[in-house]
Amino acid sequence: MSYTDVFETWSADPEGFWLRAAQDVSWFTPPRQGYEAGKGWFPDGKVNACHAALDTHVEAGFGDQVAIYYDSPVTGTKRAITYAELLRDTSAFAAGLKDLGVGQSSRVLIYMPMIPEALVAMLATARLGGVHSVVFGGFAARELAKRIDDFSPDVLVTASCGIEPNRKIPYLPLVDEAIAMSAHPPARVIIKQRPEQSVGFKPERDLDFDEIVARGGTVPCTPCPATDPLYVLYTSGTTGTPKGVVRDIGSYLTALKWSMVNIYDSKPGETYWAASDIGWVVGHSYIVYGPLVNRCATVLYEGKPVGTPDAGAMWRVIEEYNVTIAFTAPTAIRAIKREDPSASHVGKYNINRLRYLFLAGERADPDTVEWVSDALKVPVIDHWWQTELGWPALSAFPGLGDTHVHIGAAGRSVPGYAFDILDEDGHSVPRGESGAIVIRMPLPPGAMTGLWNSPGRFEEQYLSHFPGYYLTGDAGFMDDDGFIFVMGRTDDVMNVAGHRLSTGAIEEVIAAHPAVAECAVVGAADALKGQVPVAFVVLKADATVTEALEQELIASVRQEVGAVASFKRVYRSTSLPKTRSGKILRKTIRSLVDDKPFDMPATIDNADAIDAVREAIGSSSS
Ligand code: COA
Ligand code: AMP
Repeated sequence: MSYTDVFETWSADPEGFWLRAAQDVSWFTPPRQGYEAGKGWFPDGKVNACHAALDTHVEAGFGDQVAIYYDSPVTGTKRAITYAELLRDTSAFAAGLKDLGVGQSSRVLIYMPMIPEALVAMLATARLGGVHSVVFGGFAARELAKRIDDFSPDVLVTASCGIEPNRKIPYLPLVDEAIAMSAHPPARVIIKQRPEQSVGFKPERDLDFDEIVARGGTVPCTPCPATDPLYVLYTSGTTGTPKGVVRDIGSYLTALKWSMVNIYDSKPGETYWAASDIGWVVGHSYIVYGPLVNRCATVLYEGKPVGTPDAGAMWRVIEEYNVTIAFTAPTAIRAIKREDPSASHVGKYNINRLRYLFLAGERADPDTVEWVSDALKVPVIDHWWQTELGWPALSAFPGLGDTHVHIGAAGRSVPGYAFDILDEDGHSVPRGESGAIVIRMPLPPGAMTGLWNSPGRFEEQYLSHFPGYYLTGDAGFMDDDGFIFVMGRTDDVMNVAGHRLSTGAIEEVIAAHPAVAECAVVGAADALKGQVPVAFVVLKADATVTEALEQELIASVRQEVGAVASFKRVYRSTSLPKTRSGKILRKTIRSLVDDKPFDMPATIDNADAIDAVREAIGSSSS
């Protein structure tokens, strides 16, 4: 069936469409009911994500097939782990968790680097019907503490250290600090001792990951209602408080399986590689659950696109594991292009098995897309989605034989999503005109079911702006052929090297400095990372300020939010432009720093503040 036929089949009968798709996943009780308002997708189905990802394949005789290729240039380690081995370790770890009281709806927080044990912890939690929340290893103690407080984990699973190309990151001091800060600390902490760093245990609190696995226990999968939560993944909103996106089990697995086949054109037994991190939604969906549910080998790559050791690393991995479908962020390609503009590394590797490269996480600029298509000689497909949605919403469809792209566009609506572009009054704008990108409710399987611990906040944040529609927070336009061009966020969320960060989280840290009266953080355009945060600070009149202020602020953000914020620039201004009600006009500041034109509300006189910001930028760059 063509893309158009499939889209029409879905539009004509969404529930029937997804009930048929659900049959491709293994269930304890297959659903007979599609969507029920207030309950969600497949309310009568019983399922277990670990079973659909592991047991079902081993039971079908594929135990010897590789499930994970772990490739870690930062430690010089490579491992191929079969489905049978992954199931054995997962079941053993689940048995250990069960001994600690973890069961259906228990909460396990996972703060780990890109190592196989992180996947074992996720799958083991799922096996017991528990809920996991993975926190990106690049976040520092304060961000971890916020997530601990909101999630109230029963158990926290971590490792002795993370490893970046230029340094080791001891995790335990961060975990201890976060636990000390939090109001709902976990009773138990399980630690994977990495050979690169061993740590001392607190006997009353800590357990050894390897010891639990070595005990070799086994535990069956718990059949769970399909609508139960599988995980909570925190993402950045405008404020400093992260939002816990809740994902259910049955509809998520269904959407992932459908996407692996129809979007990615990935076949069971092949290798699929999403070069992301398990701490992000791409990692959850396309390092862990998507490839495993589709019985692929997934690549778990603990390295960077450049510097580990060179700009050929991605092509080496593609050759070594026969990757057929690869997925990365445009920033990674820009980093490679910067180091190897003539793509000389590509020719050193046999990447003939690669069929498609998918890009997402930030806008794919046409230069980058063109450069990498020329270098790899495979279709390069930009596609768009968000943590909230869980899987692609705009894309091309190689699995349906449709690789049609419009350069600069993120693709056409994935079946399941009814997009529209609205003006401020909620009217659809004509094709080609920009507006807010929205999706008609209900959202399809796989999308968020709510925000953790915050009844009503999902409706308030996403559904109240345009009744009947989900607000994506992105702006853009649709062309005559239905391709949507995503041009940027309408809120203050930043996208730094494909990582979604909140301006508010950085502002909280800067505002806490005794010399700072007020501040605004905005994402300034950056040739490599897309955006990087920069701060504008207004100092207290009586503050004693030394030249070290900038370095102090940079160090605090690194210490409290994490190095991943890539925060390196502070501008001192005498005032900041604001709305009449006192809200800082970050969009205006962003336009000033990017040297772009902007509209000022005619009723507000901000001329002095704008001059002050301009002066701050000018004096800093001169
Ligand atoms: N744990 C601890 N620190 C981390 C970390 C982690 N998991 N991930 C990143 N950091 C640190 C880095 O070491 C770096 O620290 P430094 O300031 O001391 O150098 C800082 O955070 C910024 O890291 P990063 O964003 O990786 O930037 P970089 O300059 O080291 O590399 C790129 C630039 C483009 C190569 C890199 O950003 C990249 O690979 N991006 C792709 C991102 C991606 O896949 N996103 C997923 C979206 S789908
Ligand atoms: P995250 O929730 O971290 O996946 O970030 C989602 C946000 O990243 C989106 O709302 C967009 O702003 C941006 N984004 C993701 N993919 C794309 C893309 N293909 N093109 C443009 N922006 C993108």
